[in-house]
Formats: sequence, structure tokens, C-alpha cells
Amino acid sequence: MSLIEGVYRHRLVEFASPLIDDPVQGGLALAAIETCHRIGEELAVEVDRLRPVLDDAGIEIDGVEPVSDRQNHTITFLVADADAGEAAVEALRPLDYEPWERWRAGALESFRRSGDQVTSGRTDGLTTVVRFRWRPRRHRGPAERALTPTAGDWHLVQLPTWAWWAYPAVRVGRLLAERLGLRPRHRASLGPFLSTPDSLLEPLFEHVGVTADDVVVDLGAGDGRVVAAAAARYGCRAMGVEHDPQLVEAARRRIATAGIEDRATVDLGDARDAELAGATVVIVFLPIDVVADLFDDLMARLAPGTRVLVHEQSRLPATLHPDSSTLIVGPDAVTVAHVWTVGRAPR
Ligand SMILES: C[S@@+](CC[C@H](N)C(=O)[O-])C[C@H]1O[C@@H](n2cnc3c(N)ncnc32)[C@H](O)[C@@H]1O
Repeated sequence: MSLIEGVYRHRLVEFASPLIDDPVQGGLALAAIETCHRIGEELAVEVDRLRPVLDDAGIEIDGVEPVSDRQNHTITFLVADADAGEAAVEALRPLDYEPWERWRAGALESFRRSGDQVTSGRTDGLTTVVRFRWRPRRHRGPAERALTPTAGDWHLVQLPTWAWWAYPAVRVGRLLAERLGLRPRHRASLGPFLSTPDSLLEPLFEHVGVTADDVVVDLGAGDGRVVAAAAARYGCRAMGVEHDPQLVEAARRRIATAGIEDRATVDLGDARDAELAGATVVIVFLPIDVVADLFDDLMARLAPGTRVLVHEQSRLPATLHPDSSTLIVGPDAVTVAHVWTVGRAPR
């Protein structure tokens, strides 16, 4: 049993409990359990805060997935259908929850028929995610997966409402083109905005050994908290690339407020085209399948000795061999951090 495996399986408390008397891992196991309890308590409070707002908006909630002992900040409400889900994400806007995706016309109709949930996020010191689900998640066989449209298909082509039924064909065409290498697997957006919890920033920087001499680059910089924290805490240069203009604005405000414009910047652009010359530490918090796809190209563009830090709660694909993988536990969040050093032979 390992604590990291517990994170990957979303059963951290269960995996940590037998380890609390372990001379090596006991302290971390206990801290992980306490953090999961705390997250669960905070989510329960948030559920109580959101329920009346949803009630007032006339949205019927059929249930809430249990939130006790959670290792991530996600609440799932069960609702009757897609319309209720969409009304619910709108109802939470005044509480600063932003819907992750909006669909129109044929994409919206296709999503209503084959989607199963809508998602919204609110970021302060960390991101809380709220999902409204109207269909249970279930295993789909390969044929069904190949024909069931997903976000990548709805983003690819804007069909009129009456043509919603053509999205399975769009999907087949897209998957084929990707398989044949005729188009990249990832569209413009490599993933939604989820902030690295503030409480994990320092432990992550320590883990990758940031110093004043480093040049830190955050790929997909979000609201700039990683860039700003690195530059403010270590006096190093820090740069970010972010493709969402609103987040770039937020990042620039953060940097200006901290008075660190001389050494911290966040540029609007695609992380895949980021200028990496001079980078000594690259930080990536993106979905693991995206990281896996970008990884070889990223490593090939970095100078020997550059450290790459990836953190996520999802399992790393077996093709990636980090120098080290570590469970990071903060007072209100956990993650798994992986570090690679460019030019170092795989373990
Ligand atoms: C999981 S968030 C991480 C944010 C930040 N690095 C942090 O740790 O707090 C991923 C970020 O990548 C951004 N992103 C997605 N696709 C991108 C792309 N092609 N180029 C640049 N940024 C992108 C998203 O808008 C989002 O802000």
C-alpha cells in the first residue's frame, strides 16, 4: 500500500489509515487523513451554503454525493436533466462559480442528449468544483465511446440545432484524423482553470528546489498565482503563458499588486509555443493525459539540467519515468508532485 496509490484511487484515507504507526510514513499518513477530514467538513459547509441558492432558483436536487473524507474539492449534485444542470450553473454565478463550458445550437442539443454533467468552478485560495449530474457515470464499450460525442467534437464544428445528430460522425472523423496524425489530439484548450491551492505552492517549490537564480515558467499560468508566488518568495524570475485573456488580466493585476513586475510576467498565448530559452524550472498543472502528449516535445526543447515539475491527483502514465514522485499534503489540499531533470537518464 502506498499513499500515492491511495491518491490515484481516490481512496487516500483508506490507504493512509493502516500507515499511521509506520515509522517512516506515519506522519504524512496522519497529515493526509486530517486534511481529507478538513476538506470533507469544508465541502459539507459549502453544500449547505449552495442548497438554499439552488432551492430559491427552483432547481430540484435529487441527491448529493457524499463529501466526507474527500481528497479533492469537488461537490456533485444529482439533478433531473441537462436543463436543470444548466439552470443550476447559472444560479451559482452570483456566488462566483463560473461554468467551465458553454455550448450553443447543435452542440448544445447533442450535449443534452449524450452529456451527463455540467461543471462550474470557484477559485479563492483553491478551486472548488461543483458538478450537476443527471446520468450516472457508466462504463462505455469501445464502439459506444467512438460514437458518443464529447467536448472535443462540440468544439470542433458548430452545427445548427437541427443537425445535432451529425456529431457522432464528427467524432469518428476526428478520432480517425488524430489516429493518423493528421490533426493534434488536443484543441486550443488543454484543460480548464483549476488553481494550485495556495497552501501547496511553497511545498511544491521546495520539492523542485526553486532558488533566487532560477527562471521559473508556468505552462497554463491561470490567474498567475504560481508565477507571482515564485517571484515574490524567492526573488527569482518567473514567467507564465496562459491562453484565456481574462486570466491573463487577473495574473497581471496580481503581479502589479505584489510590485514584482520587474521579474514576473504572464503572457497571452499557447503553452505549446511558450518561449522556454533560459527556463530552469518548468511547472505544469494540466490533465495528466495532456501532460503525457506534450511531454517529449517539452523535454526536447529544454536545456539539460532544467527541472520539470508536474502535479496532479491522477495516475501518471507508465511511459513517463520521473526522478521522483512525492505526496504533498497541505492543511487544505493534497497533490502528487513528479520531478524530471532534463538530460538525466530515466530511473
Ligand atoms: C489546471 S489550470 C493551472 C493554473 C495554474 N498553473 C495553477 O497551477 O494555478 C490550467 C490552465 O491552463 C490554461 N490553458 C489551457 N489550455 C492552454 C493553452 N493551450 N495554452 C495556455 N494555457 C492554457 C487554462 O486556461 C488554465 O488556466
